[in-house]
Amino acid sequence: MSVEIRVCPPERFTELIKTAEIAFAEDMPDDMIGRVERVADKERWFAPFDGERMVGTSGIFTMNLKVPGGELPTGGVTFVTVLPSHRRQGLMSGMMRRMIDDCHSRGEPLAALWAAEGTIYQRFGFGMATICLNLEAEARSVGFAREWPREGSFRMLPVGEGRELVAPIYEAARAERCGFFARPPEWWEGVLPFVEKDAKGGAARRLVVYETADGPEAYAVYKIKSEWIGRGPKSEAVVDEAIASTPRGTREIWRYLLELDLVRTVKTWKLPFDHPLFALAAEPRRLGTTMGDGLWLRIVDVGAALEGRTYGIDGRGSGQLTIELRDDYCPWNAGRWRIQVADGRARAARTDAAADLALDANDLACLFMGGYAATGLATAARVVELRPGSLVVADGLFPTPLKPWCPQEF
Ligand SMILES: CC(C)(COP(=O)(O)OP(=O)(O)OC[C@H]1O[C@@H](n2cnc3c(N)ncnc32)[C@H](O)[C@@H]1OP(=O)(O)O)[C@@H](O)C(=O)NCCC(=O)NCCS
Repeated sequence: MSVEIRVCPPERFTELIKTAEIAFAEDMPDDMIGRVERVADKERWFAPFDGERMVGTSGIFTMNLKVPGGELPTGGVTFVTVLPSHRRQGLMSGMMRRMIDDCHSRGEPLAALWAAEGTIYQRFGFGMATICLNLEAEARSVGFAREWPREGSFRMLPVGEGRELVAPIYEAARAERCGFFARPPEWWEGVLPFVEKDAKGGAARRLVVYETADGPEAYAVYKIKSEWIGRGPKSEAVVDEAIASTPRGTREIWRYLLELDLVRTVKTWKLPFDHPLFALAAEPRRLGTTMGDGLWLRIVDVGAALEGRTYGIDGRGSGQLTIELRDDYCPWNAGRWRIQVADGRARAARTDAAADLALDANDLACLFMGGYAATGLATAARVVELRPGSLVVADGLFPTPLKPWCPQEF
């Protein structure tokens, strides 16, 4: 029987998640499934059906991504799986075509995802828009480079509390950096601790808020994996999210995490490449950092995306650039675009004029939130300078003062 890709009937949503569990070889607790369902837009979940049997899964969250100078509607591609029995028969490719066309028809200029493996999605024009800094810190050895005063206090919040304290902190951080998704209340449900006991039997996640006389300035969601060895405690703190609205908040929330009693290792991932902790540390090497790919972006509608952000390091840049864009997967984007920037805003239009730079859709996605600079991509022979001096013009327009950061995995 041939396999057909269809919208998943809403009443089969739980079955879809259970099917994804098989491909991911991971179980999702029932209350988590409920949380996913509450943020899911059911018309945007697609599955291949072999007869009536579901043999794969995919979905798009309807999201808003912070880009320089504003935010853009973004399709958040998620739960992409194909059962082992049906792998490598083109089903994931079929679902991806359906999803990118869905974003396009809805006028979403961007699609985004987190990749299980980086090699899967580049063929569809996704580019590495953020780079993640991952930590495996020797908690006791990091220290701070200066004698910064200990200020403020910490409050641990019981399960179900704290959203109204932490949401403004997230918003303040979102105002400062690209890459953050807007977080409506139903999204917070999946981020903050929602159970007293972890489903796998370990300690539950905790929420701590850092406050000063000026109000809440930072929070962390973390969990401790307890371990004892002959020489004593050797527990590990795994930080889901630690976000601050002030430099003091960043410093103190990380002091809290690095000083947790019984904890010897602090692990986290998804930090931005230029996270301040690296500059705060007395022994940066003891942070045990590694780098990896972060959020992958697909420019679905080049004209709308280019006009939907501001340019220049202060958001007030000016200049002109003509790009020759290769985009076989979304041919409506391919061709020559003239980007005319005045006082930070761009007009993007088709042109026959000679191009300054040649690049692929993936490369434009890398540049889009300032994660990469054009000159950097040119050193990898990805962006090609056709007119001398154009890389410098692009470097004056695309980069942002802070690297993009996406703390939200989905
Ligand atoms: C990744 C997954 C969805 C791919 O599904 P699939 O239906 O086998 O993919 P397709 O048949 O459409 O493959 C399309 C192309 O991508 C390649 N590809 C697919 N998965 C790949 C992988 N994990 N690594 C490298 N290449 C991969 C295929 O070889 C094929 O290449 P080709 O066109 O040159 O022949 C499936 O293997 C899976 O469910 N894996 C486990 C869960 C997972 O990792 N999901 C991704 C979550 S982000």
